[in-house]
Amino acid sequence: MRVVLARPARGDALTSVADAAAHRHDERMLNLDLSLEADGRDRLVARFGQGAHSWLAALPRLVELCCQRWHLELDEVVLGNGSYVFTGRQYDARGVVLKLTPGLAIAADEALALRAWSGTAHVVDLIDAKLDAGALLLEKIEPGTKVSDQPELPAASEMAELLTGLRCTPGGYAGKLPTLAEGMDAMFSRTGRRLSSPRVSPLVAPSLLAHGHRLARELAAAGGAPGLLHGDLHLSNILQGGPGRGLVAIDPGPRLGDLAWDAIEWTLGRATSTAEIDDRAGQLCALVPDLDRDRLWRWCQATAAVIAVLQLRRRPPDDTTRLLLQLAATTT
Ligand SMILES: Nc1ncnc2c1ncn2[C@@H]1O[C@H](COP(=O)(O)OP(=O)(O)OP(=O)(O)O)[C@@H](O)[C@H]1O
Ligand SMILES: [Mg+2]
Repeated sequence: MRVVLARPARGDALTSVADAAAHRHDERMLNLDLSLEADGRDRLVARFGQGAHSWLAALPRLVELCCQRWHLELDEVVLGNGSYVFTGRQYDARGVVLKLTPGLAIAADEALALRAWSGTAHVVDLIDAKLDAGALLLEKIEPGTKVSDQPELPAASEMAELLTGLRCTPGGYAGKLPTLAEGMDAMFSRTGRRLSSPRVSPLVAPSLLAHGHRLARELAAAGGAPGLLHGDLHLSNILQGGPGRGLVAIDPGPRLGDLAWDAIEWTLGRATSTAEIDDRAGQLCALVPDLDRDRLWRWCQATAAVIAVLQLRRRPPDDTTRLLLQLAATTT
């Protein structure tokens, strides 16, 4: 086994061991001084509770075990919102991603859904998993650019291929995954707790969120084409898989429910007018089986306030945020 963590990743790099590596010359060894990253640790503890402390304490050992078990060499690590994501190689050959999370149930749901989508090229392949440790071994998507980092939204035809790929599942998940209605209630409650933050409270009234929640409950309760949803198909969870492959979804939070849900984020992404949203909804619904334009529009209305709140947590309001809030306030 050889574990090398030598180059910090872009953005959320959690540990640079370049110095350590320089001092150790060729003595390649695991160096995960996670104590340096108090923010990241706090984030995981806030999300997963006190149990995350012991998981974090055991993390270096877990990484080592995964490397032994799967013959990995790792070179970069990024802290996601709920996981550590390592990139590297297996058997000194194919590119892989090792995703480790203290949320064991989340990892189990993710693995179940990824296996269900093994027949489509538009979802990342799960190579193996050790679910009692929250460990997923994934193929590495190349070039892997996040759609959120690209200047233009992908074309409707590319998005339609991805959404159509997500519809190719063997089925039979009832009772094994949360329903969309359950997942949505949790999402609206989480958003409600964020309304008091200084950038959000002047723009998003609790009644606006409650209106969206009511509409979302009505939509989830009746109609739509039910199936296995990705559940979290925002633009950062869609990667470029290269010319032969197209868009590839990662990081599902799978749910069972109306498949129109997965089209929301692309339809609203960076939009600056209702005409633009309507046009995108029309293009997508013409290309994806069973995707209903009216329902997609209403799903966009129902979730617009939630997406606006998420944006406001990251940056000041822009034209898209204002449009989302306007859309959330419409009643038809
Ligand atoms: N299979 C993969 N191939 C290439 N890059 C990947 C892969 N999986 C994850 N990544 C990279 O790691 C980042 C975090 O991964 P992921 O979204 O699965 O983790 P997460 O903890 O759920 O993070 P977040 O909540 O921030 O989305 C992704 O945005 C992507 O840049
Ligand atoms: Mg993600």
